[in-house]
Amino acid sequence: METKSKTQKKQRPTLPNIDSFTHVRGQSLFVDDMTLQEGTLHAAIIGSTIAHGYITQIDYAEAEKLAGVIKIFTANDIRGENQIGGIIPDEPLFAEKDIHFWGQPIGMIIAESDFIARKARSLVKIQYEELPVITTAKEAKDKGQFVAGSRTFQLGDCEQAFKNCEYIFEGETFSNGQEHLYLETQGAYAVPMENGNIKITSSTQGPTAVQRTAARVLGIPMHKIEVEVIRLGGGFGGKEDQATPWAVMAALATQVLNQPVKLVLNRHDDLHMTGKRHPYESSFKIGLNKELKIMAYQAEFLQNAGAAADLSPAIAERTLFHSTNAYFVPNVQTSVYQCKTNLPPNTAFRGFGGPQGMYVIESAIALAAREIGVPAHRIQEINLLQEGDEFSYGQIAKQVEAQNSWQKAKQSYQLQKLEEEVAAFNKQNDQLKKGLALMPIAFGISFTNTRMNHARALVHIYEDGSVGISTAAVEMGQGVNTKMLQIASEQFGLPLHKVKLEPTNTTRVANTSPSAASATADLNGKALQRACKVLKARLCLAASQHLNIDASDAEFHNEQVLIKDKPLSLDWYQLVTEALNQRICLSENSHYATPEIHFDKGEEKGHPFAYHVYGTAIITCTLDCIRGRYNIDAVQIVHDYGQSMNEGIDLGQVEGGLAQGIGWMTMEEIAYGADGRLHSNALSTYKVPDLFSTPDILDTIALDSLGHEMAIKKSKAVGEPPLMYGIGVYFAIQNAISAFNPKYTPQFNSPMTPEKALMSLYEK
Ligand code: MTE
Ligand code: HPA
Ligand code: MOS
Repeated sequence: METKSKTQKKQRPTLPNIDSFTHVRGQSLFVDDMTLQEGTLHAAIIGSTIAHGYITQIDYAEAEKLAGVIKIFTANDIRGENQIGGIIPDEPLFAEKDIHFWGQPIGMIIAESDFIARKARSLVKIQYEELPVITTAKEAKDKGQFVAGSRTFQLGDCEQAFKNCEYIFEGETFSNGQEHLYLETQGAYAVPMENGNIKITSSTQGPTAVQRTAARVLGIPMHKIEVEVIRLGGGFGGKEDQATPWAVMAALATQVLNQPVKLVLNRHDDLHMTGKRHPYESSFKIGLNKELKIMAYQAEFLQNAGAAADLSPAIAERTLFHSTNAYFVPNVQTSVYQCKTNLPPNTAFRGFGGPQGMYVIESAIALAAREIGVPAHRIQEINLLQEGDEFSYGQIAKQVEAQNSWQKAKQSYQLQKLEEEVAAFNKQNDQLKKGLALMPIAFGISFTNTRMNHARALVHIYEDGSVGISTAAVEMGQGVNTKMLQIASEQFGLPLHKVKLEPTNTTRVANTSPSAASATADLNGKALQRACKVLKARLCLAASQHLNIDASDAEFHNEQVLIKDKPLSLDWYQLVTEALNQRICLSENSHYATPEIHFDKGEEKGHPFAYHVYGTAIITCTLDCIRGRYNIDAVQIVHDYGQSMNEGIDLGQVEGGLAQGIGWMTMEEIAYGADGRLHSNALSTYKVPDLFSTPDILDTIALDSLGHEMAIKKSKAVGEPPLMYGIGVYFAIQNAISAFNPKYTPQFNSPMTPEKALMSLYEK
């Protein structure tokens, strides 16, 4: 099968991802590729083999006897606090007695080789007393088990509004979790420096989180720990918080043994021990008037948080922020419960709770459309956000592109013709049916926690005129390093090879937020722009003094310094030398904090997002009604990139995000046993999208939008939003099922696996 993917826009050449050269040659460095120091030891984690209960006895004798085993670490070896909870201190690094999920770390074997460490692990004998296991959010809620309090967003008066609705529908939905399946598993390498200092190289989205937590667990100040990140072989949110324990464990062993320690999880351990996207069980009530305007919407989200809070409170909050997706609803009441279960703590995953919220209102609209007997896209279109509309959390929608992207998609991709084709096809075919659905998105850009929206960048101009830049941005495949390089080379008018991007390191850029929330390029790019501008101003000053002219508005192009397009007698390199002669500082560490944003958690109102990203996808699929198999024929998207600063990279994010969204909605089926053990623990049982599950045709059109001042170079954040186009695929398949089986009552139980599709086709 051939997948065609093209972007229609003015063709500007874009800088290829700067990592592509070393990636395709296998030369890019990841934690597992690092050259190891002499004396490096290896770690294997002892994980619990029950999901709930307590340890009654542990026998390490056999393991300890194995030649090459250096030491077995438990909670008793921790010199600081046995605590890694980021938002809420509710999670030990190593279980002391109580066990709350299958795979929970109990201890760590340090040995001369990875093989010995794992062999020793198999010799540890643990006895448990088991307690009842909770795996579903509903059960946890019924038993009053939560990791944190519930939240409610409210706009208008739902109760009153429902009284005047022509149509009211209620329903229930389930969306399953999702495994991150980053190509590079979790891992870290800790090396002892002098005087008890430790350097950790970690595959983390949050270097400061690693540093902060290592300091806490090791009982030493943060300045004694340096965290470096070269790049990640994917994070997808799974390394925002959950890269931390492994890095801390490696550091702990290094602290005690004063030797380098490498800890890289194998795939099996990674799958069992780490949290995933949160499954949600939700219920909704939607009310529409005669004109199909949604007048009231209520939803209750039960978030399956797993055994500890991790990032669940922030994720729950984003579910509420996005519970009305790209629609204006005047009366809204949405609540989220963070239910404590015996699953590994669930965590950030591309979209951060937003997709779970959007899936529910899309389900509500699909149900309403079916019951009223209109296409869902009629209801969707009528209710799209307009300029000046209020979100349920009080932010007023500005520079709204919901209508624009929708109308452009409708026209460019000829929605009416598509509908006619689908109808004609369905009339002619008994065993194959086509389905069509539209999916608009509106995704807020900024960390929902206002205080996290800041970053810094450190720029050195070296005496030969070459430049080194450090930011807090972590490269995880999303291309942020390429974007940073573009900014600096443009600011200084230097060719790319004169600018170098350093690995992310906490000693160069400190106290940073993780690379997440799609905001990495905005935050770090703005800080970098500032740093470059400060340095340019200093260089201008040097030029003014040296040439005795006013060079304050000089510009930098092609290694030249220009005033009104005329080059000065000094080029970039000579000016750098002159500035150093004048003893001017050519290093700068600049700070950026997103202006204007705020949020009041007491009132649940504010202006949390710098801006929103919009777009619309039209999805068509063909369902094989004998086998339940389906093919995604086309996903045709109009996406709001703003003024994309790198169209190639941004298109890659749309494609990758969409594929991940399709996987979540159609095939990725996480399965835990009633005992809390992960059954889908290999790629034979956990199906992820491959080339055959991507659409035959993937078209994207860049919406000609202005971008936004708060987006770097008006190039809007692109990392997470496209994932949510995948939600439309669920409904396209559902529409194909309905075309075959008029008795089918739509269920909102994702993923729509071929098995579920088949059952639905023959439901009576
Ligand atoms: N793309 C790749 N290739 N690898 C990743 O790990 N993570 C996603 C998205 N795109 C990810 C990715 C997630 S969850 C986020 S929040 C953003 O990238 C983070 O990067 P950004 O802030 O630079 O967009
Ligand atoms: N996205 C990712 N991480 C976060 C967020 C968010 O919105 N808020 C707090 N941590
Ligand atoms: Mo992304 S889920 O914010 O790392």
